[in-house]
Amino acid sequence: MASTYGAAQVLVASNRGPVSYTVGEDGSLNAKRGGGGLVSGLSAIGSDADALWVCSALSDGDREAVRRGVGEDGVRMLDIPADVHADAYNGIANSVLWFVHHMLYQTPLEPVFDTEFRRQWTSYETYNRAFAEALAEEAAQGAAVVVQDYHLTLVPGMLRELRPDLRIGHFSHTPWAPPEYFHMLPDDVAGQVLRGMLGADRLGFLTQRWADAFTACAERFAGGLGGTRIGVHGLGADADFLRQRSHEADVEERMAALREEIGEGRRTIVRVDRTELSKNIVRGLLAYRRLLASHAEWRERVVHVAFAYPSRQDLAVYRDYTAEVQRISEEINAEYGTPGWTPVVLNLKDDFARSLAAYRLADVALVNPIRDGMNLVAKEVPVVSDAGCALVLSREAGAFEELGEDAIVVNPYDVTGTAAALHEALSMRPEERAERSKRLAAAATALPPAQWFLDQLDALRG
Ligand code: G6P
Repeated sequence: MASTYGAAQVLVASNRGPVSYTVGEDGSLNAKRGGGGLVSGLSAIGSDADALWVCSALSDGDREAVRRGVGEDGVRMLDIPADVHADAYNGIANSVLWFVHHMLYQTPLEPVFDTEFRRQWTSYETYNRAFAEALAEEAAQGAAVVVQDYHLTLVPGMLRELRPDLRIGHFSHTPWAPPEYFHMLPDDVAGQVLRGMLGADRLGFLTQRWADAFTACAERFAGGLGGTRIGVHGLGADADFLRQRSHEADVEERMAALREEIGEGRRTIVRVDRTELSKNIVRGLLAYRRLLASHAEWRERVVHVAFAYPSRQDLAVYRDYTAEVQRISEEINAEYGTPGWTPVVLNLKDDFARSLAAYRLADVALVNPIRDGMNLVAKEVPVVSDAGCALVLSREAGAFEELGEDAIVVNPYDVTGTAAALHEALSMRPEERAERSKRLAAAATALPPAQWFLDQLDALRG
């Protein structure tokens, strides 16, 4: 029956694809290509490799593109009914699986797994099945399929049933929860997630720690790994792209503007995140406030440039968190600011060029997540910063495994400790800072996205 199979030799499946569409006022569709490791990783295969990226239509523009049959070569968008997608993405992926793996629940009141959860879980199954069916249709005999992340945990198992001939991989960009936490999920759901993932030939994780946690869950709740192999691939920063992009004219312009806002001769502490609960932006601000309170010598001499890009704003808890970030920033500025000095420059609007400008100006990068699969910002700032930066890094970020030696490591819950780390980072001698930054950059770029992706493919085929 090989003739009924598709033509794609390498397939990637993810919720968010490499391109998104908006509808212009005249009704025309405008495509915008996204960035990120996966996009540059996949570009390494080249266009003649019969590669296909299967993703969801996420916006009205995306859905319109699907309806009009508009699209890019090598991308297939699935127009899953909006309510099914909302249940699967907002309800299960982002409010349950993300919370479990990042251990974000306020456990005296959450989670509550009741009828609403069961309804959403059914949508998650439907949504996963749509991906499995599309992949089964598009894949050539014996093709390699790499499924991405917690949105699509059931796909490997479903696809295995439809197409036993395929090489199926799954890669997790998040942490994996330890068994005691993972087991908050209802038993049948926990089992489905694990068995779904174990339908893959090979599972990839960003660090050994997350791989070990998965293995422990599989052993406790699913009778072990069976024939599934586990691999660790620590995605690195894309040095060539970053160095080139961060010297383009729009970044230079923004640097000039940002220098003006910061003021002559001041140090700069930079953070860049989605406004994401796990990124710990609020405690980062509290630590900065503690620094200004307990080390008066830094007042007027440092500015905290914080980027908190909008993310997952359909969820009330994310909207509330954004408001809290804003409130505390304003409080700090009201408390310590002077006519010539704004202690916190908060950026809530997505502006990649401006964040690269901040990377270049950074004296200190603050990366303090509660828990994070990898955290690419920790890897990018040392590569881009003009004079070398000191890195204050949470021990709970995946990047800690690779960067821990040259970073100033913090417990993300310890605000006093984080303030002390900021002081240490600001006080570091310029030569030491430059040396450490160089070593951080070398470690951060050890596995660039293209190689990261090819390594996974080789391992999957091997
Ligand atoms: C994390 C996930 C990705 C996700 C990204 C942005 O990095 O691992 O799968 O795409 O967050 O989140 P969003 O919900 O906007 O896709």
